[in-house]
Amino acid sequence: MKKLLPAQYNLEFENMLPEGLAIFAAARGDVAQAEFKIAAKNSVSKYSRFGYDEQTWARFESRLNYRRLGFEDIEDYRKLESELEGLEKLHGKPVGRVYYLAASPEYFSSIVKNLRDSGMSRGEGSYRRLVIEKPFGSSLASARRLNREIRSAFPEESIYRIDHYLGKEMIQNIMSIRFANAIFEPVWNSRHIDNIQISILEDTGIEGRGEYYENSGALRDMVQNHIVQLMSLVMMERPKSLDPEAIRDQKVKIIKKISGITPEDIDKNLIIGQYAEGVIDGENIAGYRHESEVAEDSATETFAALKLNVSNARWKGVSVYVRTGKRLNERLVGIVVEFKDFSSIYGLEAYRGLAPNLLIIKIYPEEGISLQFNMKKPGSFDKIVPFSMSYCKSCEFRKFTPEAYERLIHDVLEGDSTLYARWDEIERAWMLIDSILDCKVRKRENLHLYSAGSSGPKEADRLLEKDGRHWW
Ligand code: BG6
Repeated sequence: MKKLLPAQYNLEFENMLPEGLAIFAAARGDVAQAEFKIAAKNSVSKYSRFGYDEQTWARFESRLNYRRLGFEDIEDYRKLESELEGLEKLHGKPVGRVYYLAASPEYFSSIVKNLRDSGMSRGEGSYRRLVIEKPFGSSLASARRLNREIRSAFPEESIYRIDHYLGKEMIQNIMSIRFANAIFEPVWNSRHIDNIQISILEDTGIEGRGEYYENSGALRDMVQNHIVQLMSLVMMERPKSLDPEAIRDQKVKIIKKISGITPEDIDKNLIIGQYAEGVIDGENIAGYRHESEVAEDSATETFAALKLNVSNARWKGVSVYVRTGKRLNERLVGIVVEFKDFSSIYGLEAYRGLAPNLLIIKIYPEEGISLQFNMKKPGSFDKIVPFSMSYCKSCEFRKFTPEAYERLIHDVLEGDSTLYARWDEIERAWMLIDSILDCKVRKRENLHLYSAGSSGPKEADRLLEKDGRHWW
């Protein structure tokens, strides 16, 4: 209701849904079709970036259907299959289908098994694609199990694993910034870059998902997927082409090379925290342990900061600092590439100690980039000060910036999997997170409490300070 229907409605508004497309919402609730449509209308009115538009809604509504589906009841699948088959026959030619699993992860296995056993995963002369939401497993072992189950029903090329961050405009732009500009690639290496910082900070909490979050925590919820994906896009080698496989081949090479997390490193390089009570925007916020479905003595981390490395020739010695947390003082998502002190590379003593060049990729709240560089202070003799050149895309185009899900849904209909995660990326990312979790990070003495509405545990600042750096 909040993301997927409004995204599809936005595509409708832009005439980007294929002709004849029908949308079936299938869920466990006994909801009348009319009731479902009213809820859908309310939700698109509230969440669509275009707002309610009568003509668009009329077109969109005519595509919408609701069917009750007991996720574990194969008879329901058979019924749905025969209904869909009947409808598809009317087209006179094979019709492709996309199954989008926006369900609770505990049902992923049964849904896929029933799609397979009811014959729904095989189309004659047309495609059957499966989109699967995160979390893709909760560990390497469970992800492998889930992957085996899915692969028993769908071939790899028909599986679309969602990481909605990949659908965000500025994240898609990372590749264009790097590879469509002559000025960055020559300096995109350890000779010129001092460190990279990736932050996904949230002021919201766990939003009623206590049960899920208790077994997840920030490392599984954000680092395993979104942060690893951002890191791989920023640090990968130039792909041979823009084919999905060529891009994903390069991304996975980086994920394989992420290092810095051995049992010896872990105490130095990983900070975890959990929010205690505090105040955000004048509102009193209860601590994590008072959220519903959360244990009173929970040691789940709602904040994580890590120092990582990528051990290959390009990135040798470049620290990558990443952090994410809930109930912080602001919502902010961005990537900062900090360049080295120019004088240390070229030996111009007079310029030693100037502010560094920074390339900032802004993902939220603004979407855009900015580049910090040094100039003579206007009117002074020789004082050099930093200036910033900024481009804010969302300030100009907010209404025209597609939501992540629009792009992702559009791409799966087109059969383009570039912005979806391939199995080996997910598998490698789980290996990394499992090795971090194995280091007993959940030990209570390692967990730093921070007040809701603060900038997170002070130890996360010290992680950089001891290297003579700070978070930008
Ligand atoms: C989800 C996480 O994947 O991403 C949530 O499960 C998190 O915990 C969300 O809040 C953040 O996404 P966005 O698009 O709001 O930055």
